[in-house]
Amino acid sequence: MRATEMFDLTGRVAVVTGGASGLGLAYAEAMVENGARVVLMDVDGAAVAAAARRLGAGAHGEAVDVLDRAGLRGAFEAVAAREGRIDVVFANAGIDVPPGYLGKDGTRATGRALEDVPDEIWDRIIGINLTGVFVTVQAAARQMRAQGGGGSIVVTTSVAGQRASPMPAFPYMPAKAGAAHLVRQLALELAAYGIRVNAIAPGMIATAIGGGHTLTEAVQAGVARKTPLRRMGQPEDVKGAALLLASAASSYITGTEIVIDGGRMLGLADPG
Ligand SMILES: NC(=O)c1ccc[n+]([C@@H]2O[C@H](COP(=O)([O-])OP(=O)(O)OC[C@H]3O[C@@H](n4cnc5c(N)ncnc54)[C@H](O)[C@@H]3O)[C@@H](O)[C@H]2O)c1
Repeated sequence: MRATEMFDLTGRVAVVTGGASGLGLAYAEAMVENGARVVLMDVDGAAVAAAARRLGAGAHGEAVDVLDRAGLRGAFEAVAAREGRIDVVFANAGIDVPPGYLGKDGTRATGRALEDVPDEIWDRIIGINLTGVFVTVQAAARQMRAQGGGGSIVVTTSVAGQRASPMPAFPYMPAKAGAAHLVRQLALELAAYGIRVNAIAPGMIATAIGGGHTLTEAVQAGVARKTPLRRMGQPEDVKGAALLLASAASSYITGTEIVIDGGRMLGLADPG
């Protein structure tokens, strides 16, 4: 197969959870732009309908809350019944509820040290970012096996799952580390069915997450100073990896985590 043909997704059906905004929307764009039909699932019904309209005829939006296990499983069954198959699934829906133990100004944040983490914040973040991923990939694998195997599952993890940090909410860290290990375990188990499972681990990308604090110019300038590639990530920056992992171009790649962070995991570009 020619290298350019490897990236062609014509005739494929992709599902993206959290597809109304940010990284999920960028994944969906990458799918549609390379020929796939895409189903966006998002808890924000108005935003997901608008996003699907913007993407055009190849996209369909559905209001789905990944915390609602029965609703999420039912949504996958409905997509399979309507579209006939599901080839690619991005388990992407996720939230952060900052601060962590340090606030934006670098001082200790009240109420967020380990001993003060509210139960509802633990349950919500673990519920969406880890259990929601589990239910999503389980529904995806069931359908992919039922249609004879093959397929690609991509989980959005985070550099926060690889390295501790004072800023995200405490439960965000173990949720993302758990999701990353879930990818490795699944990749091992599902390989026999030709189903590949990989992760995209972004660094800081300008999206609405955590109340949208990364969208301000001041935050972006600060992140750019510290980042080896000297700028903050934008949703567009995840499209290449999404296309690679969704397509035949990665047919011998499973169980990996692609870090997209402008080199920030290497260390600080400018310690000052
Ligand atoms: N932006 C970053 O810097 C960054 C870095 C690392 C990882 N991530 C991860 O990327 C993923 C996408 O985040 P983003 O930055 O695009 O944020 P975003 O807020 O722009 O998008 C998240 C989307 O998920 C949806 N969502 C939230 N809860 C949901 C639920 N219960 N069910 C269904 N949909 C739900 C939201 O409505 C939203 O459309 C998350 O898993 C996040 O943890 C983001």
